[in-house]
Amino acid sequence: MGIPHDGSGPAGITLRGGVAGDVPGIIDLIRRENHRPANPDRIRRRLAQMPSVIAASESGIVAFIYCRRFSPDLVELSNMVVDSSLRRRGLGGRMVDRLEPQLQAAGFRGAVFVNCRLHVGTSDQRAAAARAFWLRRGYQIVFATHGSAVFSKAFGPAAPEGDARGTAA
Ligand SMILES: CC(C)(COP(=O)(O)OP(=O)(O)OC[C@H]1O[C@@H](n2cnc3c(N)ncnc32)[C@H](O)[C@@H]1OP(=O)(O)O)[C@@H](O)C(=O)NCCC(=O)NCCS
Repeated sequence: MGIPHDGSGPAGITLRGGVAGDVPGIIDLIRRENHRPANPDRIRRRLAQMPSVIAASESGIVAFIYCRRFSPDLVELSNMVVDSSLRRRGLGGRMVDRLEPQLQAAGFRGAVFVNCRLHVGTSDQRAAAARAFWLRRGYQIVFATHGSAVFSKAFGPAAPEGDARGTAA
């Protein structure tokens, strides 16, 4: 059962776009919550190239979501973590609500990602929580195996001509 919330998220937390200086804080959160190492160069690249959302409190980064280009008009949501002490208070939802219009404005027509319960550091319970979260946000499972679920969501009409992200994959 979640802590009742009004959808505005926990107090004292600000949302902003990610920058290179956030990489150590993101890696720290991944180590703490996912119990696995992360590749700093890959994260730095993704923050530099694509919209992202960082949630920060006085104590540092408490949540993040970042992306990578999947095709010229599709984005992959690469990784998202909310500190376990702050979950079920609307923070993750606010972050996705902030990110999606930025992705749409950048020319992306939809998003895809995979949730896999077989990754080191995950569990069936955790995968079920994530799947419930994304279904609630309008994402659909388009393909599933015993361990993985591929999600997608269409963002709607194309952004004005010229906004689509450039070159072929
Ligand atoms: C998935 C995750 C990002 C959700 O963040 P969050 O801040 O807890 O999400 P919210 O509080 O905004 O949840 C919004 C809604 O999603 C659904 N939801 C979220 N967590 C849920 C859970 N554990 N069980 C069932 N539904 C859940 C609910 O409908 C919830 O609304 P409600 O609290 O009013 O019922 C967070 O649980 C997390 O970091 N998990 C570990 C990392 C991970 O799995 N990342 C995603 C990989 S695909």
